[in-house]
Amino acid sequence: MIKHFINLSDFDAETLKEILKNAHNLKAQKFNPPQLFKGLSLAMMFDKLSTRTRMSFDVAMKQLGGHTIVMTQNDMQLGGAESIESTAKVMSRYVDAIMIRMSEHDKMEELARHATIPVINAMTDKSHPCQIMADIMTIEEKLGSIEGKKVAWFGDYNNVTQSFVDASAKFNFEFTAAVPEDIAADKPNTTSDAITAAKDADVIVTDTWVSLGQDGKAIEKFWPYQVNAELMAHAKDTAIFMHCLPIHEWEEVTEDVAKSSASIIYDEAENRLHVQKAILAYCLSETGVSI
Ligand code: CP
Ligand code: NVA
Repeated sequence: MIKHFINLSDFDAETLKEILKNAHNLKAQKFNPPQLFKGLSLAMMFDKLSTRTRMSFDVAMKQLGGHTIVMTQNDMQLGGAESIESTAKVMSRYVDAIMIRMSEHDKMEELARHATIPVINAMTDKSHPCQIMADIMTIEEKLGSIEGKKVAWFGDYNNVTQSFVDASAKFNFEFTAAVPEDIAADKPNTTSDAITAAKDADVIVTDTWVSLGQDGKAIEKFWPYQVNAELMAHAKDTAIFMHCLPIHEWEEVTEDVAKSSASIIYDEAENRLHVQKAILAYCLSETGVSI
C-alpha cells in the first residue's frame, strides 16, 4: 500500500502517535542522525513561497542520507501543457516520494491517485498537516501531553485551523477557534467571542489573517481577535503562545507577546525538521526504511 501523508483525518490515532514518537526519538539523535534514507530521493514541488517547509524537508532528507530535488511552478511543465496524471506517472519513475505545496487540495489528491510513490501534503488551501504534527510535538515537549489540553485559536479560519480541527479528534484535545461571526457561522469548533475562547487556555495560537494568495484581503474584522497581552491574561498562567510563521508584524499578534517567555515559536519552527524526518520515514517504509 502506498503511504501518502495528505489528510490527518485519513489516519488512525495510533499511526499519528507513532510518527510523533519517532520524531521525538529522531530529535534526540539530531547530532548523530541514523542514515535511514541512503540512496532515496525526494521531489519537492512548490506553487507558493516557503521558508520553513522547504528547508526542513530538504535538511531532513539530507541529514538522514537521502537526496532532494526542488522544483517551483516556474521550473515544471505541470501547469503548462502537461497533465497532473502524466506528471505523477513520470515522477514516480525517478524519485521515491513527492512532497508538494499546491493550492488546490483536489489536484493534490489527483496527483496522489496517479502516483505510484507516496505524496506528502506540504500545504494546500485546505490543510497543513505537517505543520500541526510539529505543533503537537512542541506542545508535548512543553506541556507533557496534548491530551485534554485546551487549545484556543484566534483570527482567520484557514488551512492551519482545519488541520488543528482534524488533529483534535485524533489526539483528544479541546480546540476552539475564535473567528469573526460571518466565518464562525458555517464552521465547526468556533466562537465569535475571543475572551471566551482564551479563558483558561493552555495554548494560544494564531496565524496570519492574509494567507498566501489572498493579497488585498480586508483585515478590519480580525482586529478583535488579535493576540495581545490583554487576551493572554485570560489564559492559564502557564499558557504558551504558538504561530506557524511567518508573522505579519504586528497584526495577528503584538510584538510583546511574540517575543515573550510564553512564546515558543522558534521551537515550533525547529520541530518542523524533526517531524518531517518521521513523516518521511513513515511514507518511505515501503522502500524498506525502518526505525
Ligand atoms: N509554517 C510554514 O509552513 O512556513 P513556510 O510557508 O515558510 O514553509
Ligand atoms: N495560512 C498560511 C500558512 C502559512 C504557513 C498560508 O496559507 O499562507
